Amino acid sequence: MLTQSKVGGLAVSGLEVRYPNGKQALSGIDLTVKPGELVVILGGNGCGKTTLMRCISRTLAPTAGKVTVGGRDLTGLEGEALRQARLDLAMISQHASLVKRRSVRANVAAGALGRYADWWSFLGRLPSAELAAAHGYLAEVGLAELAEQRAGTLSGGQAQRVAIARALAQQPRVLLADEPVASLDPEAAEEIMSLLKRLARTDNLAVLCVLHQVDLAYGHADRLIGIRAGRVAFDLPGDELPRDAVRDLYLREAA
Ligand SMILES: Nc1ncnc2c1ncn2[C@@H]1O[C@H](COP(=O)(O)OP(=O)(O)OP(=O)(O)O)[C@@H](O)[C@H]1O
Ligand SMILES: [Mg+2]
Repeated sequence: MLTQSKVGGLAVSGLEVRYPNGKQALSGIDLTVKPGELVVILGGNGCGKTTLMRCISRTLAPTAGKVTVGGRDLTGLEGEALRQARLDLAMISQHASLVKRRSVRANVAAGALGRYADWWSFLGRLPSAELAAAHGYLAEVGLAELAEQRAGTLSGGQAQRVAIARALAQQPRVLLADEPVASLDPEAAEEIMSLLKRLARTDNLAVLCVLHQVDLAYGHADRLIGIRAGRVAFDLPGDELPRDAVRDLYLREAA
């Protein structure tokens, strides 16, 4: 039995991705996110951020390198073992992708589906305990009062909170967020980042978040990782990271 200690968080080492068309998207990426930590990834369009997130969630198999979650190496896992391991990783993105005609509570409870794969196919519904638990996750994101509202009626900020509650229902160790505030106004963006930071602390989650908003990154991240042309350019706490280094990250390569 592998150690399932939450101490491990997320560790990426020597990660390489070369797409079939020959594009080298990532080269030698090393990073860690400890439980309780919010780490933000910055970098220009096309530098490899989404590729990195997809490798971590194993929706894309890396060309080389290793991803470890909670002390368990995901490399080489397949089938049921990979499915189980991926339950430790929840993902949110720019779009909340809720089922609009269903209630907020049902959307949140759906996050637990992966933990009940057999139940679901057999009964076609979740255990009632999970539906009740959905209220708890909604309370964590401050939306308990909207449980019975149709998801299609929510504002963008509310919908993103529900997506976060749905991710919590999965009971992950690691939360991956790829531009979670890209569609939100500045106030809602600030609230979502505060929420992610709080959840990292209270739920001991390792949170890795891609942002294009440098000020939000400085304001909320425990560490900022800069990616440039598929490589780590810096990995520092905000109070040790000069603004110039961030500005350089976005300079286009000389033609
Ligand atoms: N399936 C693919 N096949 C070939 N090249 C790809 C593929 N997916 C992405 N790329 C290339 O890999 C590089 C990194 O893409 P990626 O989507 O990871 O960037 P990103 O940092 O997330 O950018 P953005 O900020 O625009 O979201 C880009 O040059 C992109 O064109
Ligand atoms: Mg991207």
